[in-house]
Parts: sequence; structure tokens; C-alpha cells
Amino acid sequence: MNFLTVSQFSADTQTIIYPVHKENLATQLTFIAEQTSLPVSILTTEVKAEKAEITLFFSAEKRIYVLGLGSEPDSQQIIKAFRTLVFKHKAKVGSSVGVSLQNLPEHWTEFVVNGFILGTYDFGLYKSEARAAIPFFENGTVELLASDSNSELIEKGQKMADTQLRLFTLLNAPSNFKTPQTLASWAMHSGEKYGYKVRVFDSGECQSQGLSALLAVGQGSKSEPEFIVMEYKGEGATRKVGLVGKGVTFDTGGISIKPSENMHLMKSDMGGAAAVLGAIEVAAKLKLPVHVIGIVPTTENSVDGESMKPGDVIQSYAGKTIEVTDTDAEGRLILADGLSYLVKNFQPDVLIDLATLTGSIIRTLGYHAAGLFTTNNELGKKLKRAGERTGEKLWRLPMWEEYADHLKSDIADVRNFSGLPHSQAIAAAKFLEVFVENHPAWAHLDIAGTAYGDTDLATQRAGTAYGVRLLIEFITQLTKENINDKSQ
Ligand code: BES
Ligand code: ZN
Ligand code: ZN
Repeated sequence: MNFLTVSQFSADTQTIIYPVHKENLATQLTFIAEQTSLPVSILTTEVKAEKAEITLFFSAEKRIYVLGLGSEPDSQQIIKAFRTLVFKHKAKVGSSVGVSLQNLPEHWTEFVVNGFILGTYDFGLYKSEARAAIPFFENGTVELLASDSNSELIEKGQKMADTQLRLFTLLNAPSNFKTPQTLASWAMHSGEKYGYKVRVFDSGECQSQGLSALLAVGQGSKSEPEFIVMEYKGEGATRKVGLVGKGVTFDTGGISIKPSENMHLMKSDMGGAAAVLGAIEVAAKLKLPVHVIGIVPTTENSVDGESMKPGDVIQSYAGKTIEVTDTDAEGRLILADGLSYLVKNFQPDVLIDLATLTGSIIRTLGYHAAGLFTTNNELGKKLKRAGERTGEKLWRLPMWEEYADHLKSDIADVRNFSGLPHSQAIAAAKFLEVFVENHPAWAHLDIAGTAYGDTDLATQRAGTAYGVRLLIEFITQLTKENINDKSQ
């Protein structure tokens, strides 16, 4: 698929899309009427510009889609509307499509392109029957009607979408197609292709490094755990950002086994890893002037004679002992090693971890926002603002000391589960805090509700690549801040 900026649609463009939003709708409809010779009265009756509302007209042998974006849409709404339109109508659009960006803010171009490409995602990757090829996706042209050339925005939308599509595939892959080795080779290939360093520690190397908590979680699985270390250093980088993502490729709960009802969804317990893999890849593609270190501890959490048992006391990279009172609270164990390894070996200026960490955050915030935990107000504000810009909402929860008491152990330095039926997402954040070595700018994002979500496009929940756009936005703002600081 090829995107071109044009000042006039080619005569043979078979499909034209007019995005409309609720502000000044009448003016927008008058413009469409002039362009298409559709009567303005019909447009006014049919089009309300609701979110992702699709109205189809035929005029002069062309398909005319008027696509609703709602009121003052954020970037996510624009992306979603285009993704839905392309996904639902892909077979009918012909070989060339025009999109009118006239009357829209210029920066929306990125989101239009991004949503357009995401609409090509095929959920049925494991279906045996060959599906009809969509020639448009291979060699179709999308003409963007705009007064200025906006190739940088088009490229950003494309580069982001290409990574997101591959992350969808990784997130949606079942555990018999996705092991810690799959995540490791994803990182290796990406590093090779986009020019950043990747090292993978196998279990032997983890042993000699002392990554004991990761090894303990992985000891019941046939596939060995891996510890992935990625490092991208852009030209002119002055800030060092550390990212850690939970990479549990399947979470049975271990011996503290989960109920079976929704256990199949636990193939998505590597949503934090996906966000980190994606963010570092996109940062490298966009050549952002930043130094990013991404760490993904990855393992299965399986049931076996070798599995750790509730009550076991394990070691950690930080040298602290952990009483594992619940083997299903495994994410915090592998993150503990990831966080302390990153702090000790790289001393980042900012440290962010992302993890599908607790069911508790879903009971608190549902599927619309991720939990944000930090004691650094400045960092909290910046992340929240970045999320508002990308439509990936974050909501801050407290980190008060009282919650740390829930994790006191009589026999070890700390325990991994309070045994209490409440405030588990907060307790999880307090557990992680033990392992960040008093880092002054650390934030934890609990993305259990947002990494894997409902769409109108599939019957079941699917990977969202939540966090990639958020992290790229946050990092981009950070690099701008640097430039300003210097010029002052
Ligand atoms: N992977 C789960 C959290 C999760 C739950 C993610 C639902 C996505 C959807 C995590 O490892 C877990 O099992 N957490 C336990 C923690 C508890 C034992 C303290 C939970 O939330 O129940
Ligand atoms: Zn678990
Ligand atoms: Zn888990």
C-alpha cells in the first residue's frame, strides 16, 4: 500500500473517504456536497459524525464514504475510525482510495495513515482455509488530498503501524506458538534490522548473572526463560530511559493454579514485553535522539514437578530473599530482577516498567485505563499527559507506605502476595519498589486491562499494543525538553 499526497484526486480513484467531526459539521458537509455533487440535504440527514459512523454513498460511479470521528477526537479515535472502515470494507474499495484531509488539522495525517494500515490486520492467522487475497493491501494507492506535503507524518504513521501489526501477531499467538525464545528472536531480528544492540541471556547466563527470581519462575517449564537486553543509542542523545516489560508467554498461575474459565487469555501476559519491544524498535526507526535500554525478562509460568511451590523462598538479582506465598504473583518476581539489573548496570535517568500485573487493576479501572504508580509527581504528570495525547489513558494510584506492610515476611526479606482480597495492584507496585534501588524517577504501569482488549473487529479480545505510542510520545517530549533546557 502506497500513500501519496495530492492536490486533486485522480480521475480513476474508485473510492473516496471524507472524515468528518462534529465541530462545524454543516461546513464540512457543504464542502463534501461541492466535491461530490451529492445533495447537501441528504448528507445532513444521513451524517451525524458519530464515532466510527460509516455512511456510504454512490456518486459518479465512485464509492463515497463519510466517516464520523465524533467530537474533538483524540488520536486513538481517529485511528480507530479508519481501522474499522478499512477492516470492514477492504474487499470493496478497488485499487485506489482517496482520503480528503482538507479542513482537518495537519497532524491528524499520521493517525489517518496509522489507522488505515492497522485496518489490514488479519486475525485469522491460524485458519487452515486460504482466505481471498486483498490486492489493495499489496499494491493499492491511497491518495491523501491535502494542501501541504506531509511525508514525515505519513512515514511516522506507517512506521508505527508496521511495528504494531507485528506486535498484534505476537500478542495473539497462543503458547504453543510463542515461547520465551520467540520473544528473544523477535528482539534479535528487530535489532539487526533497525540497528540497535540486543543481548539474550539463556538460563545458564541468567544463573551466572544471578537472575534467580526469573529462573525460579521458569523452573517448571519445558521452554527455558530468557533475559533480553536491548540498547538503542540515538545520535545526540542526552537522556537515558530504562524500560522493563513483563514477558510471561503463558501464565497458568503455577502451583497456585488459576481457575480455568479465562485461563486461555493468559497467552497475553507478555503485553508489557510487547510495549517495550515495540517502543525500542519505533525509537530506532524514527532515529529519536535518546538512549533507551529495554529489558524483557521472559518465561512461562507452568505447573510441573519442578515448579516452585507456594511458600518457597527464592533469591533475587538485588540480593533480597522473597517468600513466594502465591506462585501466580509471578510477574513481580521477574520484574524485580529486570528492574534491579537495569538500575545497577545502566543507571537510567528515567525508569518505567510495564506489566499485565494484576486482576485488581481491572477491577479498579476496567479496560479503559492503565494504572500508574510513581512517587515522582513530575514524571507522573508527563506520563499522564503523554497518555492523554495518544488516547492511552493512565490513572494514578497511591504508593503510601501503609501498603508496604502487606508484604512483610517473617522468614524472608519480603513476600510476594499479601493474602488480602483488596488493594493488590498497589501492593504489587510496593513490591516492585523494593527492587528499584531508590531510583528517583521510576514509574510502574499496570496494563492488565489495556494490553488485550475488545475491538469491534473480532469476536474476542485481542492484542492492542498498548503503551507503544504512549512511550514514543513520552520519549519524544523528553527529547524536546532537552533541547529547550539547553537553549535556555
Ligand atoms: N497475569 C496475571 C494478571 C492478569 C489478570 C493479567 C487478568 C491480565 C488479566 C498476574 O500474574 C496474576 O496472576 N496476578 C494475580 C496476583 C495475585 C495472586 C496477588 C491476580 O491479579 O490475581
Ligand atoms: Zn500470575
Ligand atoms: Zn501473570
